[in-house]
Amino acid sequence: MTEKSMTEKIVVLDFGGQYNQLIARRVRDGGVYAEIYPYSKPRETWLDGSVKGVILTGGPNSVYLPGAPGADVDLFSLGVPVLGICYGMQLLAYRAGGTVEHADVSEYGHTVLHARGGALFAGVSPRTVVFMNHTDRVTALPEDFSIDASTDNCPIAAYSCPSRGLYGVQFHPEVRHSVEGGRVLHNFVYGVCGCQGGYRADDLIDRMIERVRSQVGEGTVVAGLSGGVDSSVACVLASRALKKEQLTCVFVDHGLLRKDEAAQVMRTYRENLGLNIVHVDASEKFLAALRGVTEPEQKRKIIGELFVRTFEEEAAKTGADFLLQGTIYPDKIESGMGGSATIKSHHNVGGLPKESRFSGRIVEPLDALFKDEVRAVGLALGIPRPMVMRQPFPGPGLAVRVMGEITREKLAVLRDCDAIYLEELERAGLAGDIWQSFAVLTGARTVGVMGDGRTYGNCVALRAVTTEDAMTVEAAEIPYPVLKKIASRIIAEVQDVNRVVYDITSKPPGTIEWE
Ligand code: XMP
Repeated sequence: MTEKSMTEKIVVLDFGGQYNQLIARRVRDGGVYAEIYPYSKPRETWLDGSVKGVILTGGPNSVYLPGAPGADVDLFSLGVPVLGICYGMQLLAYRAGGTVEHADVSEYGHTVLHARGGALFAGVSPRTVVFMNHTDRVTALPEDFSIDASTDNCPIAAYSCPSRGLYGVQFHPEVRHSVEGGRVLHNFVYGVCGCQGGYRADDLIDRMIERVRSQVGEGTVVAGLSGGVDSSVACVLASRALKKEQLTCVFVDHGLLRKDEAAQVMRTYRENLGLNIVHVDASEKFLAALRGVTEPEQKRKIIGELFVRTFEEEAAKTGADFLLQGTIYPDKIESGMGGSATIKSHHNVGGLPKESRFSGRIVEPLDALFKDEVRAVGLALGIPRPMVMRQPFPGPGLAVRVMGEITREKLAVLRDCDAIYLEELERAGLAGDIWQSFAVLTGARTVGVMGDGRTYGNCVALRAVTTEDAMTVEAAEIPYPVLKKIASRIIAEVQDVNRVVYDITSKPPGTIEWE
């Protein structure tokens, strides 16, 4: 770790917005280490000489309602500059004596901002596009505060009070749609807080290794290894942190993997990573537990619980007391941690049972990172590039790609469609540009005509997305001739499928997976 990155950091206090970890992430990308904590974490646990500034995030609440988050947190004697974003901006102004009110018109999406001045806007165009997402707004500023920017519907869209080190922006500088948002954050971190920079992604490795060691001590660990990027990086990191006999990696085949995947994963791991791996075929158990289940959240909960029970059985054999998982930040935020809304219970977060052998002893070294940061760490750890660049695959596997009840027959149909799809994307040279591509068995049956007869078969959807971090995505623009070829092959080669559609939904409003 470099000297400078150890002596300076920015702390992000989380008030429950969907994009909060992006703030920490943008600061890290800009060369300064940043960590995110719940707003209620006592300051004695994090405020030390290395903290150069604090950022308060957005969140879904109203500062003037009883019980508003942060109403009793002392924000004015931290001794370092504070930047409030959205809810954080309203909270700072309100607590300093300003007024915050419900606006008649919500602002959502791309909005033109008129920047007037102030340290945050140095080098920012006077007219710039930002991403807004709010209903409340600051309507009167406390004494000594000045207005630094406005929009048509929000006269106080940014403020500052340099004498007290307080700054606020109503828009979201962390979201890429805010065209000069990176500059605003840079101005805060370097211009206002005086950071020096010099931090790099692989500096994280030492911190994470240290964290695993201090959490596990002399204990022993079973690690869930799925073959995906996150769990591979978590396992390799743990193998650097712990003695060989402290760590057993468990690969659970839940019967919901893609075509030939289990064999491929085991081969790759044994050949490349030198980890101590146990292969458990639990497919009977998972498929039996999922029989008759159609509701997506219920599927996720059943799978999350069964994973842990399977790890418990393996742990009982080795006497392990900790479970290591490759959970990353978006898994947590979408599962509703930290006050944000539950979008879906990722199997390794919201799907976990309340009571288990591992209660209070779950090790998640990657839980502050986004996928591309995990990939950078993986490469820095020396994991082969093809493994690090693999497409993400959800823990619940094909269970969330077969709509409705899961049966072996449906899984077989889906596997064949999926394999053709991926093979053709690879052949067309498109696979590298796509974040995730997969087929979905939609559950709809449709009428068709083949030869001279009527068919009544499955409708399969194809999904492919591009994104930077899976928080917001666009449907990939696959050339029509490629789509046409894939559709013809699927209908010709996979029995019982007579229709193929392409999903063009972005996220939001859709999610990547269908369930
Ligand atoms: P969504 O569908 O929420 O997916 O837009 C975002 C990313 O997360 C993956 N995903 C999961 N990964 N356990 C995981 O490990 C899960 O339960 C889970 N659900 C979704 C999804 O494939 C995408 O990359």
